[in-house]
Amino acid sequence: MNADMALGLIEETSSFSIQKTLKYLVDKFPGKVSFSTSFGMEDQVITDMIFSENLRIKLFTLDTGRHFEETYKIHNRTLSQYDKKIRVYHPDRNKVEDLLTTKGPFSFYESPENRKECCHIRKVEPLKRALQGVDIWITGLRRSQSEHRENLDKFVYDPDNQVIKYNPLLDWSLEQLKQYIKDHHVQYNILHDRGFASIGCAPCTRAIKPDQDFRAGRWWWENNSTQECGLHASSND
Ligand code: ADX
Ligand code: SF4
Repeated sequence: MNADMALGLIEETSSFSIQKTLKYLVDKFPGKVSFSTSFGMEDQVITDMIFSENLRIKLFTLDTGRHFEETYKIHNRTLSQYDKKIRVYHPDRNKVEDLLTTKGPFSFYESPENRKECCHIRKVEPLKRALQGVDIWITGLRRSQSEHRENLDKFVYDPDNQVIKYNPLLDWSLEQLKQYIKDHHVQYNILHDRGFASIGCAPCTRAIKPDQDFRAGRWWWENNSTQECGLHASSND
């Protein structure tokens, strides 16, 4: 995989719908297409597109161990609704034990370095494992989620994981997402109805006011950070 291949895919699929693009990728990269879900609204829509068409795409989730109870509930509801498997990746046990022993359970509030350390152990490392042998990594990133994501492309090479990322909902608005959810009776995390827009780990996510940025509830105590955890932090993500 490389950056030219990502550009090639942008061209080859430029007139395709999302469904057609997904099928195209499955045929072109058999057994090497994976989708990561955190069970947020975007991910529930993509999950519905994949499972309802029985596409040969592997779904996985990174269970940081610090998610909301409501996130585990929507995880479970999704399994029962579609009766399909979602592979779960956990952080390295030794690293979590060392982190908690040396720095306690809330080290991430103390400094951006500590926060990134925790995200690295609980998300970035497990992601690397999940993407072993994968060519195409599908995500639920959208441009309107944040300034940092405004310049994203639909297909983009991720040099850290040596995969091509495909962001099918890149240009979707929140209204489009909600409409799809309504039209297709997609189940979603109940926290979205309680003011939570972007949902990550429980201690690092809070509800936002209607006029706030979509990602304002993530790592809100870090005033000047990009509010990214490292999953999508590379310069051309
Ligand atoms: S994050 O980088 O801040 O955590 P965000 O919550 O916006 O990411 O989600 C963007 C996309 O990253 C999701 O649509 C999903 O594809 C992927 N993602 C984020 N968190 C996880 C997770 N815990 N497990 C699997 N995929 C995730
Ligand atoms: Fe740790 Fe918070 Fe990052 Fe979750 S979001 S991995 S709890 S720092």
